[in-house]
Amino acid sequence: MKITVVGAGAVGASCAEYIALRNFASEVVMLDIKEGFAEGKAMDLMQTASLLKFDTKITGVTNNYSKTVNSDVCVITSGIPRKPGMTREELIGINANIVKMVSSSLLEHSPNTIIIVVSNPMDTMAYLVHKTTKMAKNKIIGMGGTLDSARFKYRLAEALNAPISDVNGMVIGGHSDKGMLPLTRLATRNSVPVTEFLATDRLEKVAADTKVGGATLTGLLGTSAWYAPGAAVSSMVHAIANDTQKMFPVSTLLEGEYDLDDISIGVPVILGKNGIEKIVKINLTDAEKTKMQESATAVRKTNGLLEL
Ligand code: LAC
Repeated sequence: MKITVVGAGAVGASCAEYIALRNFASEVVMLDIKEGFAEGKAMDLMQTASLLKFDTKITGVTNNYSKTVNSDVCVITSGIPRKPGMTREELIGINANIVKMVSSSLLEHSPNTIIIVVSNPMDTMAYLVHKTTKMAKNKIIGMGGTLDSARFKYRLAEALNAPISDVNGMVIGGHSDKGMLPLTRLATRNSVPVTEFLATDRLEKVAADTKVGGATLTGLLGTSAWYAPGAAVSSMVHAIANDTQKMFPVSTLLEGEYDLDDISIGVPVILGKNGIEKIVKINLTDAEKTKMQESATAVRKTNGLLEL
């Protein structure tokens, strides 16, 4: 399997690193517009291969899309990250032009590729790729819910004083501070609902901390996070490469599911060799349905800023 990662900044490099560490891909191409930057990151990562025992070949190129030819999966991380105090939505102007250009250049060389969109505002960027490339909808996957769910599990484990591997939980809705919807009702510790262990106000705090997970890190780091975004992408690429049919919350184009249409937003899906194999429909409570609709309204508002 050949994978291209566009953008060799912190998020792109983490994607390449974690994909390589899992040792399932034959090749990862990193592409960046900054002269020599992707080449440098790729070389540095390759010099970890003998130490960390992976055989994935990582190469770097400066804006040369011909080197990405016949990629099975392309990950778009390019664009500007948010600074402290900024919302993901504020990045739209610059990032929309970049994502449009990058997706069309990728498709010229890999017409059958699956695209994973990471650039923010992610749900709107995934929608933009749908609108401008006309690719099959199963092949455009927005990375947000997988990351937000990892942050949710971190916060749940903290509240439960439990190991993270003992907890399970999922976040759906838009990948934004206000829009994401951590499904506390369905979260479990080793199959026991967490509502058995945590009071409502503690669970509300877990949800609130999850929703500002990215903003908290941006405040601490001065820029957007990279380890968990990279790990989330690598899990998704692994599921596609190995046709695992595992369930992930991702942003996908909805056509009536969850009472939503013509929008890309986070819902559970099955990932496999075709990308999104199936959208999983789960029954939401009335309160969750209302939150999902509110989240969709916010995403649509950002979509409305696109020049399509
Ligand atoms: C974050 C960015 C990747 O949430 O959206 O860290």
